[in-house]
Amino acid sequence: MKKVVSTFLLALLAWHTSPAQSNQKMDTFIDQLMAKMTVDEKIGQLNLVTGGEATTGTTVSTGVEAKIKNGQIGGIFSMSTPAKIRKTQEIAIKQSRLKIPIIFGMDVIHGYRTVFPIPLGLAATWDMNLIQQSARIAAEEATADGINWAFSPMVDISRDPRWGRISEGAGEDTYLSSRVAEAIVHGFQGDNLAAHNTMIACVKHFALYGAAEGGRDYNSTDMSLHRMYNEYLPPYKAALDAGAGSIMTSFNDINGVPASANKWLMTDVLRKQWGFKGLVVTDYTAVNELTAHGLGDLQQVSALSLNAGVDMDMVGEGFLTTLKKSLDAGRVKIADIDRACRFVLEAKYKLGLFDDPYRYCDEKRAKTVIGSAANHAKAREIAAKSFVLLKNENQVLPLKKTGTVAVIGPLANSGPNMPGTWSVSAELDKTASLVEGMKVVLGNKVNILTHLGSNLLEDPIYQNHATMFGRTIARDSRKEEEIIADALKVAQQSEVVVAALGEASEMSGESSSRSELDIPKNQQNLLKALLATGKPVVLVLFTGRPLTLTWEDAHVPAILNVWFGGTETGKAVADVLFGDVVPSGKITATFPRNVGQIPIYYAHKNTGRPYGNSGDFEKFKSNYLDVSNSPLYPFGYGLSYTTFTYGDIRLDRNTIDEKGTIQASVDISNTGNYDAEETVQLYIQDLVGSVTRPVKELKGFQKIFLKKGEQKTVNFNIKVDDLKFFDNNLNYVAEPGNFKVYIGPNSRDVKEKEFELL
Ligand code: BGC
Repeated sequence: MKKVVSTFLLALLAWHTSPAQSNQKMDTFIDQLMAKMTVDEKIGQLNLVTGGEATTGTTVSTGVEAKIKNGQIGGIFSMSTPAKIRKTQEIAIKQSRLKIPIIFGMDVIHGYRTVFPIPLGLAATWDMNLIQQSARIAAEEATADGINWAFSPMVDISRDPRWGRISEGAGEDTYLSSRVAEAIVHGFQGDNLAAHNTMIACVKHFALYGAAEGGRDYNSTDMSLHRMYNEYLPPYKAALDAGAGSIMTSFNDINGVPASANKWLMTDVLRKQWGFKGLVVTDYTAVNELTAHGLGDLQQVSALSLNAGVDMDMVGEGFLTTLKKSLDAGRVKIADIDRACRFVLEAKYKLGLFDDPYRYCDEKRAKTVIGSAANHAKAREIAAKSFVLLKNENQVLPLKKTGTVAVIGPLANSGPNMPGTWSVSAELDKTASLVEGMKVVLGNKVNILTHLGSNLLEDPIYQNHATMFGRTIARDSRKEEEIIADALKVAQQSEVVVAALGEASEMSGESSSRSELDIPKNQQNLLKALLATGKPVVLVLFTGRPLTLTWEDAHVPAILNVWFGGTETGKAVADVLFGDVVPSGKITATFPRNVGQIPIYYAHKNTGRPYGNSGDFEKFKSNYLDVSNSPLYPFGYGLSYTTFTYGDIRLDRNTIDEKGTIQASVDISNTGNYDAEETVQLYIQDLVGSVTRPVKELKGFQKIFLKKGEQKTVNFNIKVDDLKFFDNNLNYVAEPGNFKVYIGPNSRDVKEKEFELL
């Protein structure tokens, strides 16, 4: 015991001295700088403007150059290239009074120029190493292009696929999203923020943005503290504990107070409970929007936001134009302006910008790093691993590399749609389409024919909204039946049909909520006609969210969900369809049978009237008359070309005390014909508690590789921490009693065993 205590004290001491020493240097530097700053210059640092390269809101910043000279801008986002950024930085360094460098931000969400799968797809790899590598490459490229602040990771839990931004996060699960958040932060920030190839991560959107009512973007959230602390807040905290240097407020109302004015959230939770010491920035014009929320005029809401604990104001310039007046009127304190200014300056200090404001402006590095062959190869590998095989009847897949394949559908020939939503730095017109990518991989071994097959959407206005920002998809003005008839002529010449259907990339992402989640009707009609040819049909599904695929699941022999796979989508799809890569992705958000089941998620409560597993309606049970409670595809689900068999769970003991560990083991065999990866998932259920607990919660996972015929034992160590939750007094506790452990290939098909916490 003595030894344990002394090691602990040493560690504590080390933890306290080293950062403190370097902090002291930073503090002294910033003290001295702030002593020279006027109030206006301090307020100027709180102003974040857009360089306008990407459109993420309706307000655009103006007079940027003059404002930099006057010390009225602290940061700029959506501006790129070393040349442009150097020129802009020079204005600050050479023409402003105090020569304070500017911080340059960007939405670096799933890659930079080299684009990786959308975040929901990245999460489906369940491979934290690869996810970290994707963020590392994104940081290498973005920093080479002059940028040092990434508006990522987006860690909003969402259990409502109507919400378009579910595509930008890791899905529905608290534990998995937390691990993904850590991986991305480490990827962006590395070990040393002042290195020329690392950047500050910005966790967003704080908080609960993914719980917007009805899945309608920007909508309100109203949530119990119990649910917040247990289910929605942990990923933000995990990202901050991993060292994320900044956090972005969300647009939504939280129990009556919008995030950007929410003092409880921004100060009590973030600063006091979690001890966060980084920069808090608002989302795009979120301060101004507090007026529409009903909290007062611009001066009033700007003061509210600063007083709540917000440091930097994105685009709306409420801080810039009103804080001085509020200071004079006694509505804000200089201490709060100082606090906010200090956090902005600290971020710049940590990035090394005071040592060298041009650290990230290296044309040579930009030329070699951005879009390199190695980065593309990694993007292809990750994309293939993000795809989820939802169905594969009679082993239609993999396809043979011979004969003629018809690739038909509105997503077959649109390069600009492959990167997916929130890929503002992608080179859309240089991105290969699905067919182009497939042709590169298959050469002349396979004859590929192609056809549009149907419009993306019947309604041209809806299609316009769904293909904004250059994500165009050709339209055919003929009648639906004529287009289909034409496509069938192409299908008839092939041995296999690949139907490239689903959403365009801008049908998910910001301001892209949907009330229906099926594959658009006209595309379904095409699919039905293709199936009627009697040829084997493989549905290659493009989507930014779980769709309702009940009809497709019943009728299409093979479904490969490819999300939006990024720059290398086409090649990666060919890799999987033709068996060079065995699919291993698993969904991280439940696929409902219909929209009425939403919200649907595996970690639900039991209710007092749980309904059995029959799938049939049971009177006086918690169910629906017209649909079963079960999802179409459960959380964690995804098939492989091979099959895995799970043995029974073995526990090395049946009880655990506060300090103990139980090892749960399971033997897994590859019983099919392919070497392949499998993600083994561990869930826990607290059977009796002081509050009701979910029917199961993910608490661990391991991705393993098994050669065909091979068997491996997978061990999980369950600790008391895995059993803890926030009780109704928000104490983080593990309550003695019985627990169940479940292990399986997804959240539904699990083995189980019971143990007791003493
Ligand atoms: C989005 C953020 C994004 C910001 C800056 C907003 O509209 O909600 O996720 O970082 O724009 O582009």
